[in-house]
Amino acid sequence: MNDNRETFGSNFAVIMAMAGSAIGLGNIWRFPYIVGQYGGAAFIIVYVLASIFLALPILYAESIIGRASRSNTFKAMRTFAPRTGWHWVGILTIVTPILIMGFYGVVGGWSVQYLIKSLSFNFIHTSPDSVTNYFNTYITSDLAPLWGHFLFVASMVVIVLAGVKNGIERFTKPTLPLLMVLIIGIAVYSMCLPGSGAGIDYLIKPDFSKLTAQGVGAALGQSFFSLSLGVGTILIYASYMKKGQNIALSGLGTTLFDVMFAIIAGFAIMPAVFAAGLEPGAGPGLIFETLPFIFNKMGQTLPILSGVVSIVFFFSIFIAALTSAISLLEVGVAYLSEETRLSRRTSTIILGLFIWALGVVCSLSFGSLKEITIGGENIFGFLDNVCSNILMPFGGLLFTIFVGWKMPKPKVYEEFTNGGTKKFNRAIYPAVRFLMRYVAPIGIILIWLSIYL
Ligand code: PHE
Repeated sequence: MNDNRETFGSNFAVIMAMAGSAIGLGNIWRFPYIVGQYGGAAFIIVYVLASIFLALPILYAESIIGRASRSNTFKAMRTFAPRTGWHWVGILTIVTPILIMGFYGVVGGWSVQYLIKSLSFNFIHTSPDSVTNYFNTYITSDLAPLWGHFLFVASMVVIVLAGVKNGIERFTKPTLPLLMVLIIGIAVYSMCLPGSGAGIDYLIKPDFSKLTAQGVGAALGQSFFSLSLGVGTILIYASYMKKGQNIALSGLGTTLFDVMFAIIAGFAIMPAVFAAGLEPGAGPGLIFETLPFIFNKMGQTLPILSGVVSIVFFFSIFIAALTSAISLLEVGVAYLSEETRLSRRTSTIILGLFIWALGVVCSLSFGSLKEITIGGENIFGFLDNVCSNILMPFGGLLFTIFVGWKMPKPKVYEEFTNGGTKKFNRAIYPAVRFLMRYVAPIGIILIWLSIYL
C-alpha cells in the first residue's frame, strides 16, 4: 500500500467531500421537475427507497474497492483481480468522468454567468421578456458562454491543484454546510410567497397514477446519477479514507445529505414557480429561464430582496456544480499522477486543458456547431445521454458485481466492518452484501429497460 498518499482528516471531511460530489445540478434542476412529471410524493417515495436500497449499496461497493486498495481506479481493480480484464473498468471510469465534465462544465459556466448577472442586479432591472429570452441568445452565441466556462474550469483546476487535503477537503468542508443553509433559506423564502401552496401540493401530493414504470425507472436513474455512482468518483474519494474511518457511516451520511438536499431544492424552486403563476418547465430552462423571470417579477415590488435571493441562488448552483466537478477531475488526476511519471500538477493541468477544450466543443454545439448531430442530438446532448444513461449505470453495474461476486469475501467484510471492529457495520453487512449481489444489479437493468423499452 502506498502510505505517502494523502488522506481526509475525519469522517466528517469524507462525508462533506462525497456529498459535495453528489449534490450538484442533478439535485437542483433535474430533481424538482421530474418529481412533478411522475406524481410528486409518489415519485419521492420511490426515489428515497431507490437511494437506500439500490444506490447506497453501489456507493458502498465503490467505497470498499477504493479504501481497500487506496489507489486510483485502474490500479484498484488490478490489485484485486490481477491478470483479468477488470482493469478495463478502471480505464472506463477514468474516461467517463472526463466526458461528463465536457457537458457538466458548460452548465457550470452558465451558472457563473448568471451569478455575475445577479451580482449586478441585472435580472431585476430589465424587462421580463428579455430576462427569459436571454438564455437562448446566450447559450447559442459562440463566445459569450466561453468566459463563464473558462472561469468554472479554472476554479476546478485551482482547487484540485491544491491537493486532496488542502484543496478538496478545505473547500468542501465549509461550503457544503453553507450550501445546505442557503438552500433551506431559499426554500423558506419560496414557501412564504403568496400563492406558493400549489407548488407545495405539487411536491407532496402523491399521485400514484402518474407513477408509471418509466417513472420508477427515472427514480432509480435519478438516485444513481445524484449519488455520482459508476464513474469512480466515490471510489477515488474512498481511496483517501484512513483505515480507521467508517465506510458505512460516510456512505449513509452522504446519501442522507444528498436526498435531503434534493427534496429541499424541490421546495426552494417549485413553490416560487407556482407563486409566479408559471408551469414548471422541464430541462435547463427551469433554472435559467423560469427563475430569473421570477426574480424579475418579484423585483418589481421587492427589488433588493429579489436581487439578493437571485445572488444566493446562483451562487449555490455554482458551488454545488463546482464541488461535483472537482470529484470528476480527481479521478483522472489520481490515475495520471500515480500510474505515469507525470506529477500531480502536470496531470491536473493537462486534464484541465482537455476538459476545457471538450467543454468548448460542447458549448459551441448550441452555436456554430449545432449542425453536427449524433442520433438527432447535438454534441452536448449526445454526451449527456451516453454518460448518464449508458456509461454511468454500466460502471455501477461492474463495480457492484466486482465487490459482490469477484473480490475476496473476507476482504470485503474486513473493509466494510473495519476488521470486524464496528458493531453497526457488522449488523448491516449481510443485508448490504445481499443488496450488492442481487438488488443493485437488477435495479440497474431496470433503469435500462425503462429508458430503452
Ligand atoms: N451527482 C452529481 C449531480 O447530481 C453529478 C455527478 C455525476 C458528479 C457523476 C460526479 C460524478 O449533479
